[in-house]
Amino acid sequence: MNIKMTKITESVTYAGVLNPGMRTFDVIMHTEYGTSYNSYVVDGSEKTAIIEASHISFGNAYKGIIDEALGGKTPDYLILNHTEPDHSGCVKQVVQWFPYIEIVCTKAASIYLKNITNNDSLNFKIVKTGDELDLGGKTLQFYAAPFLHWPDSMFTYLPQDKVAFTCDFLGSHYCEPQVFDTDVTYPKKYIDSLKNYYDCIFAPFKPYVLSGLDILNSLDVEIVCPSHGPVLTSGGNLNTVKDAYLEWSTVVERENVLIPIFYCSAYGNTKKIAQAVQKGILQIFPNAECETYNIKNHNIAELAGLLNGCDAFLLGPLTINRDVVPPIWQLLAHADAINMAKRSVALFGSFGWSGEGFAHTAMRLQQLKCNLYDEQFKVNFVPTEEDLANAVAFGKRFAQTV
Ligand SMILES: Cc1cc2nc3c(=O)[nH]c(=O)nc-3n(C[C@H](O)[C@H](O)[C@H](O)COP(=O)(O)O)c2cc1C
Ligand SMILES: [Fe+2]
Ligand SMILES: [Fe+2]
Repeated sequence: MNIKMTKITESVTYAGVLNPGMRTFDVIMHTEYGTSYNSYVVDGSEKTAIIEASHISFGNAYKGIIDEALGGKTPDYLILNHTEPDHSGCVKQVVQWFPYIEIVCTKAASIYLKNITNNDSLNFKIVKTGDELDLGGKTLQFYAAPFLHWPDSMFTYLPQDKVAFTCDFLGSHYCEPQVFDTDVTYPKKYIDSLKNYYDCIFAPFKPYVLSGLDILNSLDVEIVCPSHGPVLTSGGNLNTVKDAYLEWSTVVERENVLIPIFYCSAYGNTKKIAQAVQKGILQIFPNAECETYNIKNHNIAELAGLLNGCDAFLLGPLTINRDVVPPIWQLLAHADAINMAKRSVALFGSFGWSGEGFAHTAMRLQQLKCNLYDEQFKVNFVPTEEDLANAVAFGKRFAQTV
């Protein structure tokens, strides 16, 4: 099913494709409510532009929709605010359908697109902040918006209609068979999917999100046309969604230092060491939020939040069969690699003979560019009272480096 042709303003027509069945996006994201690949046609008196294309799997549906939205006109420009294949997948077909079309995008986008389409002869018009395109009575203005979502990203603004096209920014993987935010049938589900989208796509890029909001706030915008989910209007959700992005991207100063201690333990040895290390840390930071977490007993999303939001952390990597156990890998697979650099971390735990868990975990932490504490606190099998006293001292030493 697709949405019947809908006018956003007198000169902007919605031309999106629905994918209600999508349940996974970019491998990393579960999408309970499907998505839409929004595309738009902007008509001036002289020229016509398409903004964003579509996913390669939906080429035929997109052709029907774009033809209807174009109403017999031949498009002069394809504005690509971002080249991830959920928007650029159909570019190959678009240039076959409209061979004279000029592709308007940032320099980075042009480089990516050559390798996404494997076509060296695309007709590019490279733009940067401050550039504009006259369609005849309608102007498209461009604003570089790097990392929203990729380094190639930009926003396009149509001042005469007060419309901003922001691609992924303020978007959501949420599919309903209508265009405007004011028509959403399940507002709670929509807000849940907006948050899920922010967490999976934009959470690693908080400073860039704030810059994106600054761009929008410097313009007179009444409608935001994103590339996924409902079109946002000033009478509908636009301000709510902008406020949510602001709140989610603003780093709140914590009163107390957060140093979580994660571990796995089959027979309780690593657990005892974790508790002793915790004592040491609390001697240096009496008010620290310094809980111990047996990874198997907790929800991984909760632990990932602690890992990605902490000041420093400790890991107790249990060794079983010459490898570190899977929950440790699983936790580190949830590390926000973009923001882990220089995060202080120390390793502790019990082992039996070869103790590979330590080296394997250290390697992963180095890949994440963490600041790995030189000293690793290792105990052979069951810790003695003396070992536990040494673990307390180890915790103190590590805390003093944070
Ligand atoms: C099934 C199993 C396999 C193990 N394999 C290894 C190993 O390959 N290398 C090693 O150093 N220790 C190995 N160990 C020993 C544990 O690392 C050791 O018993 C340690 O004290 C367990 O700590 P915990 O009480 O925190 O679980 C193994 C233990 C078990 C139960
Ligand atoms: Fe994207
Ligand atoms: Fe996207």
